[in-house]
Amino acid sequence: MSITDSSPVEIVAADPNRIIIFDTTLRDGEQSPGISLDQGEKVEIAEQLARLGVDVIEAGFPIASQGDFESVQAIARSVSGPVICGLSRTALKDVDRCWEAIEPATRRRIHVFIATSETHMKHKLRMTPDQVKAETASAVAHARNYTSDVEFSPEDASRSDFDFMCEVLQIAVDNGATTLNIPDTVGYGMPAEYATRLADVRNFVKGDYIISTHCHNDLGMAVANSMAAVHAGARQIECAINGLGERAGNAALEEIVMAMRTRSDYYGGIDCAIRSEELARTSRLVSRLTGYAVQYNKAVVGRNAFAHESGIHQHGMLSDPSTYEIMDPAAVGQGETKIVLGKHSGRHAFADRLKTMGYDLSGDALDSAFTRFKELADRKVELSDADLEALVAEEIGDTVHYAFQLVSVDCRGGSTTTPTATVVVTHDGESMEATAEGGGMVDAACQAIKMATGVHGTLTGYTVHSVSGDVDALADVALRFNVDGLSMPGRGLSTDVVEASARAFLNAINRIVRVQKSGEDPTKVARPGSLR
Ligand code: KIV
Ligand code: ZN
Repeated sequence: MSITDSSPVEIVAADPNRIIIFDTTLRDGEQSPGISLDQGEKVEIAEQLARLGVDVIEAGFPIASQGDFESVQAIARSVSGPVICGLSRTALKDVDRCWEAIEPATRRRIHVFIATSETHMKHKLRMTPDQVKAETASAVAHARNYTSDVEFSPEDASRSDFDFMCEVLQIAVDNGATTLNIPDTVGYGMPAEYATRLADVRNFVKGDYIISTHCHNDLGMAVANSMAAVHAGARQIECAINGLGERAGNAALEEIVMAMRTRSDYYGGIDCAIRSEELARTSRLVSRLTGYAVQYNKAVVGRNAFAHESGIHQHGMLSDPSTYEIMDPAAVGQGETKIVLGKHSGRHAFADRLKTMGYDLSGDALDSAFTRFKELADRKVELSDADLEALVAEEIGDTVHYAFQLVSVDCRGGSTTTPTATVVVTHDGESMEATAEGGGMVDAACQAIKMATGVHGTLTGYTVHSVSGDVDALADVALRFNVDGLSMPGRGLSTDVVEASARAFLNAINRIVRVQKSGEDPTKVARPGSLR
């Protein structure tokens, strides 16, 4: 099954076993505490989602901020394949703004929502049920004037009075909604109960529409609820990479897809257009850019999802992998893909390899990525695909023109002597050196960088992630630096954790200097809020 130019409604009409995968990593996922992606990073994720084969990308909530609006618009302009969707409240100006952001896309969807549970109407909206009905009618009709693809969600559906919710849903369909999404906004539903609610909606609400799931994971039921709903007739699943989303998150896309594929016998032959071999890579990209680590034993994309430790299991695996594996690791992109690129590889081979991985770099971006590749390959014999992904993320996700460049960082000391670091940085061709002591090597390097650059502030967060998990893995450092209330993230990659930290620290400083000098909107230079 593949993505076509048809609308989701046409796709499902042509094949009732086809499930529409609606990805909300960039909207609900981006609302996770501590995550703030900049425009370049959002576009990078959206491009990977298109490569993965999602049907719909919910790119953001355009009315929420100027940054959100511009990111949705940038995605609508540059990402082809999936339908580009924007979220909108029922106010007509929200709908207008949403349309303005998604208009450049080839296929567009407006997703209108309003709460229908008593508690939300009373305490949040301060609206009467009649007002909610009127708002639904006007917003959906207005959206429908812009596009034939309109989704409607009664927020907090699983705690809403069923009859009232159906009245609102009927109004939405009568005014042109083509997808009805039933959000379990607070993760309250149980699989059989949620499935029954969806089946009942289909019986009560008349018209032509696709019914959709949107499940939160507060009780760890998001995937189970979504799959139960599919059994009850849902043909769209809203989900997010690595299960990102508000609070405990949304249903994890990778789990949904592999449950559907692995147990298609149970689900009666349903399928979707996802290229599952891209799952692991998409998960790594999202994890790297958001700073949300993937737990080791996470289903499908966790580092240990296909690891076998006990002797009995290893023995079984050696005689036949089907003894303990229900999925082929290669089918989710977790196969062993060591590349032969090393320090002797040329620019051409490097660019070619990136191209097969889907990165089309040229000009300055390719030059600087190749220079970094050579530096790293000099120290690490083999670079895996995961290493290359991290390298590209460091190079092209970065929109900063560096003011300061790291030349070297040398550390001395250990458990018995005070750690000391000497750093050399350049700025506009001028070289600056400073030496400082610290509580540890990383601290000493950061102190020395502060002295060399003259930029002082507080380090408010720090995480280090090993790219491949081996002893010789590249260290990927994410940190946050605060200068006079302006907090900026920074990232750095190296075979050495102190050097990766120094690079990340300088990256944050450069962003701060750039914002201070230009008065630019900080959200446009901000990198992941990886630090919680
Ligand atoms: O959880 C929720 O209810 C939502 C809606 C906006 C669909 O995210
Ligand atoms: Zn949600």
